[in-house]
Amino acid sequence: MKRIITYGTFDLLHYGHINLLKMAKKLGDYLIVALSTDEFTRDSKHKNCYFPYDKRRQLLESIRYVDLVIPEENWEQKVIDVQLYKIDIFVIGDDWTGKFDFLMDYCEVIYLPRTPEISTTQIKVELNNHQL
Ligand code: CTP
Repeated sequence: MKRIITYGTFDLLHYGHINLLKMAKKLGDYLIVALSTDEFTRDSKHKNCYFPYDKRRQLLESIRYVDLVIPEENWEQKVIDVQLYKIDIFVIGDDWTGKFDFLMDYCEVIYLPRTPEISTTQIKVELNNHQL
């Protein structure tokens, strides 16, 4: 059984997120999403979530590709998570290429192609511009 992990905020869930999760699940059998908490997103990623953690978790848990959602609370937990959950492959979008190569000592690391032209930030900007 191959176990995959990925990390992210997944706010205002969109088709770019779904593509990433689908590709991730195809690499193995069990997909864990480490979902950034509201505090971690605010304090360390310097952006604010529209949907709070529990709502974002609920959405992710209803996706067929996702088997388990755990909290991402800091940048340092990845090695511990990989060991604790016996992860075979760490995946993340290629906007992070090279950033997590240090995990190669613990598991396979794959940067998946991002879906072009969609992001949570972009959605917020466009909604704001159109005042919807
Ligand atoms: N992702 C993707 N394609 C997109 C947007 C996101 O593959 N168009 C991936 C990211 O690379 C990451 C995961 O989805 O692996 C979660 O990304 P996240 O940062 O939560 O989503 P973004 O839409 O990029 O949000 P933001 O604009 O706030 O950075």
